[in-house]
Amino acid sequence: MKFATKALVAGLILAGGVAVAKEGVQDPTVKARMDLMGVQSHSVKILMEFAQEKNAFDAAAAEAARADLLASAKDIAAKFEPQATDPVTDALPEIWTQWDDFVAKSNDLVKAAEAVDTTTLAGVQAGMMAVGGACKECHSTYRVKR
Ligand code: HEC
Repeated sequence: MKFATKALVAGLILAGGVAVAKEGVQDPTVKARMDLMGVQSHSVKILMEFAQEKNAFDAAAAEAARADLLASAKDIAAKFEPQATDPVTDALPEIWTQWDDFVAKSNDLVKAAEAVDTTTLAGVQAGMMAVGGACKECHSTYRVKR
């Protein structure tokens, strides 16, 4: 099935995405937005492990992960708006000079998360490409590449 290739692509997109908030971060506002990204990463990992059939599909667990992903996606703009900074941040200054675009990209993730049908495995598989794409779209413009 085509999903194997797609899953590989999504896996690459998310590579390194399971890290927790960086060690040594001091600014609490920066830490809060890193933690928010950590929630997203955790939810995506759960959904991807179903999509890739690493774990037996569980519609209730998939829906719980999707709900966490959606809630955290809706909170992105609020968490970044304060323009906080920290020596270990990976946030690029373009976030605040191109704020409307940044918010639009967070809304793309909201839409992608809303569209994931967690009632079936096929629905999760179909929906996760757009989710992974939305993460990548924002990171490629607004996050330091490491
Ligand atoms: C609208 C923009 C945007 C979207 C959408 C987005 N991110 Fe991020 N993400 C960022 C920025 C900016 C940072 C860097 C934050 C910092 O270092 O202050 C980041 C950092 C992260 C981090 C590192 C956190 C840490 O502890 O340093 C992870 C993991 C992450 N994102 C996962 C995801 C996942 C998974 C998705 C999709 C479900 C996603 N992000 C969607 C902008 C976004």
